[in-house]
Amino acid sequence: MTTRWETSDVLQTPMEICWQFAYEIDSDKLKALYAKAKRHQWDAEVDIDWSLSVDPSRPPMDDDIISGIMRVPLIAQLSRSQREQLLAHLAAHRLSQFLHGEQGALMTAAALTHAVPDYQGKLYAATQTMDEARHVEVYARYIQKLAMIYPMTEVLKHIIDRTLTAQHWVKTAIGMNMIVEGLALASFHNMLRVTPCELLRSILRGVLRDESRHVGFGSLYVGQAIAEMHPDEREDVADFAFEIVNLMRQARRRGAPPDPGFLSVLDNSQIDRGDFWKSVAELAATGERVELPRDQVHPFKHLMMPALVRVGAITERARERYRAEGIPVWEDRATLEAFERAEALE
Ligand SMILES: [Fe+2]
Ligand SMILES: [Fe+2]
Repeated sequence: MTTRWETSDVLQTPMEICWQFAYEIDSDKLKALYAKAKRHQWDAEVDIDWSLSVDPSRPPMDDDIISGIMRVPLIAQLSRSQREQLLAHLAAHRLSQFLHGEQGALMTAAALTHAVPDYQGKLYAATQTMDEARHVEVYARYIQKLAMIYPMTEVLKHIIDRTLTAQHWVKTAIGMNMIVEGLALASFHNMLRVTPCELLRSILRGVLRDESRHVGFGSLYVGQAIAEMHPDEREDVADFAFEIVNLMRQARRRGAPPDPGFLSVLDNSQIDRGDFWKSVAELAATGERVELPRDQVHPFKHLMMPALVRVGAITERARERYRAEGIPVWEDRATLEAFERAEALE
């Protein structure tokens, strides 16, 4: 058991921390975002009805991955209670990634509060820090009702560590507000659409309202900073964005090794790993393909790539790198803009 003074990991960061004594607000959009952030604060203790029960026989998520796994003959033959146990662990594994990602967001938002050069950016980043604290609180509390907290996937940890230890705040804002939060926004939205769990729905609705502001901040603020950069500095930022996107894509490639967290899900559900893979192979032999959890849903097409293009984080030179890796540079902003207007929320 880790005591409160024993940390799980310690990073050294070269980020600059700056004071700003000019207290004028000169961006109406940022001012409006800050005002909205203050108005929409909520208290997870009061505004979520924690007395709602979580029914393990109805999975908190009901997506292709779950239905794929349920088709594996070995799993289809499990008793009802074993199946419920597996579903609870699968959900805990997925939600654990949300939880750890939120802790990363909490720390990057705090880092941005230190590092952004202007007063209004600091005020906004402080509201985001509080939002992220609340998100950590709600996911940690919800997971306890399911099973256990699973470790962070290696790729998510690596991406957030790189974001936290970037030397320039623009990279931090790109890594977190634009890329990781783009991913989170899409994952939360997809889960809200399918989950039958009323408690999780109310959590996701609250979190999503906050997250759409965070993605909006990334786009608004980073675009202006990149436009004012020296071209060499802009290329450096574009390289950073490419490397983070590429890391995410590589982790999701077919044939990537199974996530160690998923293997622990099998262990914790008393499912023999060998028997499981044998059964997956049997199903595959019939021509059926089973998707297994690798990482979260990836919203490259609708959120991340159009947002990176819009702020100028994909330069002509960077386009070559995306092309060489076979990563399309999607530019259609319709979904992104709908999210920002919170119209995509129910
Ligand atoms: Fe968050
Ligand atoms: Fe966020």
